[in-house]
Amino acid sequence: MKFFFLLATVTSTATAFTTGFAPSVVTKSASAFSFTLNAEAAAATTNGTDKKKVIILGGDGFCGWPTSLYLSDQGHDVVIVDNLSRRNIDTELGCDSLTPIQSPSVRVQAWKEVSGKDIKFVNLDVAKEYDLLVQLIKEEQPDSIVHFAEQRAAPYSMKNSKCKRYTVDNNVSGSNNLCCAVIDSEVDAHIVHLGTMGVYGYGTSGGEIPEGYIDVILPGGREQNILHPAYPGSVYHATKCLDALLWQFYQKNDNLRVTDLHQGIVWGTNTPQTIRDERLINRFDYDGDYGTVLNRFLMQGAMGVPLTVYGTGGQTRAFIHVTDTARCIEIAINNPPNAGERVEIFNQIAETRRVRDVAEMVAKQTGVEANFLPNPRQEAAENELDVSNKKFCNLGLDPITLDEELFSEVTEVVNKYKHRCDPTKILPASFWNKKRAEECATLDPTSVKVEV
Ligand SMILES: NC(=O)c1ccc[n+]([C@@H]2O[C@H](COP(=O)([O-])OP(=O)(O)OC[C@H]3O[C@@H](n4cnc5c(N)ncnc54)[C@H](O)[C@@H]3O)[C@@H](O)[C@H]2O)c1
Repeated sequence: MKFFFLLATVTSTATAFTTGFAPSVVTKSASAFSFTLNAEAAAATTNGTDKKKVIILGGDGFCGWPTSLYLSDQGHDVVIVDNLSRRNIDTELGCDSLTPIQSPSVRVQAWKEVSGKDIKFVNLDVAKEYDLLVQLIKEEQPDSIVHFAEQRAAPYSMKNSKCKRYTVDNNVSGSNNLCCAVIDSEVDAHIVHLGTMGVYGYGTSGGEIPEGYIDVILPGGREQNILHPAYPGSVYHATKCLDALLWQFYQKNDNLRVTDLHQGIVWGTNTPQTIRDERLINRFDYDGDYGTVLNRFLMQGAMGVPLTVYGTGGQTRAFIHVTDTARCIEIAINNPPNAGERVEIFNQIAETRRVRDVAEMVAKQTGVEANFLPNPRQEAAENELDVSNKKFCNLGLDPITLDEELFSEVTEVVNKYKHRCDPTKILPASFWNKKRAEECATLDPTSVKVEV
């Protein structure tokens, strides 16, 4: 099977990755997923006295599911809350995860079989079912609540007014409900929220982006350390900026303990936990709305379709492997701020890379070409991005960086499930404004064909 664009020239087909899926992934995972914790962080996770009750809001999603399994594997008691809206959006868009993700009930049953551990699943809308959320927090008495439960695709948030309004309603109400529910339940739970590097804007600081707060000199020479100015590039990113203000307010007003994690683009698919059983497989989004940049390239490379690079590919972005997402969450829950301390903010990234350099890495490995498309986004064509990630590193994270061995792991997953790909979903389908839509008018989603 071969794919090609009518609008682009395909010069070569996918490199064959025909080795058996399970054994090669297991072998690679042993070395590639290895990491070091410093003595302090290791003690926090292995002394047996620091096991926590954790509610994972959005625990059915791409980051939430592997994080839930990782925390459960580490001995924490995990409760997943999810309203399955992400699965419903797939239905709305006519897309599906490339990997055949199982229903929540099958997933938690499979985890019980392979690990002997229970994970509870609760179907609840955090943005709408407030009373149930309060009741759940009272019943479960969590030490930590990890908040992944938001509409997370910038392109989807820019698709049309309905999607813009849904993203704001869902994300901002969800975060506000969470704060109110923690206060009303009178449970001193530490909130750990997944924010995004996009709250800072890209390359606007003129130097290294610090972790959340920045020293400024106000008129008259007064020095202050304030929340880094927000500079969102989409409605989705704007909701994360609004979230940051909510955390700041509720911390100050109600002494909530909050950690906000400004995460980079997550790549990879499986983790040492999800590969333990086919039924535990993680979601893999490849479509123009939800597919994030490196995973999209890896999937396209594996299928022999030219890589969809937007504009010049000069955008510099921050990246993190999905396995590190889970580790960072555990470090965050083990290091909560004290009551009364300002919101703790970490930059949850491993490294920054320019998009065209990432495309080149994938092209080199897979033999496909990069296809430079008109950019659907309203953004600077080129930007620098220098980001501090010292806090996680000081707490013991030795991050996984872009690595061709790990690329092969994703490629193997893609090869196994490529028959599930709908090629008409690969091109960008959401445009930031009228001008961008006009510039992208030549892109024909049906031009990506399967040659049998
Ligand atoms: N994936 C990335 O590259 C990335 C990068 C930076 C930040 N993040 C952040 O990490 C978080 C998780 O991202 P993801 O990639 O796992 O997204 P995802 O869409 O795969 O998962 C989010 C989950 O939350 C659920 N959800 C959404 N709204 C809900 C609601 N109102 N009530 C209950 N459940 C709800 C969805 O059904 C879904 O399962 C998001 O907040 C996202 O902004 C992700």
